[in-house]
Amino acid sequence: METDALEKIRQSQSFKSALAVKAALTGKVLEELMADQTEIPQQLKDAMNYMLQSGGKRIRSAMVMWCCELVCGKINRPAQIAAAAIEMIHTYSLIHDDLPAMDDDDMRRGQPSCHKAFDEATAILAGDALLTLAFELLTIEIDDPAVAVRMVRTLSEASGPSGMIAGQVADMNSPHANGSMERLQYIHMNKTAEMFAAAAALGAIAGGADEKQLGALVEYGMKIGMGFQIADDLLDVTASTEDLGKTAGKDSEQGKLTYPALVGMEKSREIFEQLTCQAVAALQDFDRGADILRQLGIELLNRTK
Ligand code: IPE
Ligand code: IPE
Ligand code: MG
Ligand code: MG
Ligand code: MG
Repeated sequence: METDALEKIRQSQSFKSALAVKAALTGKVLEELMADQTEIPQQLKDAMNYMLQSGGKRIRSAMVMWCCELVCGKINRPAQIAAAAIEMIHTYSLIHDDLPAMDDDDMRRGQPSCHKAFDEATAILAGDALLTLAFELLTIEIDDPAVAVRMVRTLSEASGPSGMIAGQVADMNSPHANGSMERLQYIHMNKTAEMFAAAAALGAIAGGADEKQLGALVEYGMKIGMGFQIADDLLDVTASTEDLGKTAGKDSEQGKLTYPALVGMEKSREIFEQLTCQAVAALQDFDRGADILRQLGIELLNRTK
């Protein structure tokens, strides 16, 4: 085999183990934070933990940690809490996204969705609980109030009614039949990319980044997030339910406005690659310390789930 090919495999393997380390750390922080919550009713806590520890890829939380490490050389406590908080909010968004009133998916991460494993009311409330607890933890667990407030603001703007929820509203009300590229970009930016930009911003804030570093990392996160949702839409067409751990082919079945539906598979892939290049370009002022973020962009191009 050629040396380049071997080098690519080596890089890919070291990326996978780097991600596994961050995923494990996120899982551990979440476990400890949840164990401290002694007053949550048991069934609600079971539903929250069921979804928090169900094998998500932990991309957003890893991004928080890598961005913090890039600017200050370590994963400090605020970064760990922010990583757990963004994973809680992401998890809530998936629980609600799967509900019968929304995408109506019975499967998530290879197991029954929260409303199937428990019941609809418990799933709605577990989502509410994860969303609220994420903000509570940022204010309690982060010592510096200025850092906590900046994080709360970043995460609430990204996930709130002018961010992810706006995107979800548009997603529900945009049949592909009369869709436009402008509308589609609005959906992807809001429902997905803003949370990736927030992940990068949280890491930057935790690490004490200057404004220029913060701006570059937010730009990186936004481009990665735009690409991430295109990949999700492509995989909905090409991957199996077994590989995805969620029902494949759902977007076309539900007439969703997606890149493959609007511009076809090939063009979607092309736009995804352009976004990845733009994400990597946003990191141009960082040294080799940002290689893991560059590698993340490349790895996401080849993801299969
Ligand atoms: C799924 O996100 C929802 C989208 C925004 C596409 P992920 O693909 O990150 O889901 P998990 O956490 O790995 O299950
Ligand atoms: C969900 O997008 C984005 C969220 C904010 C949860 P999708 O509806 O495409 O995500 P999947 O395919 O169900 O994971
Ligand atoms: Mg959806
Ligand atoms: Mg969905
Ligand atoms: Mg999808």
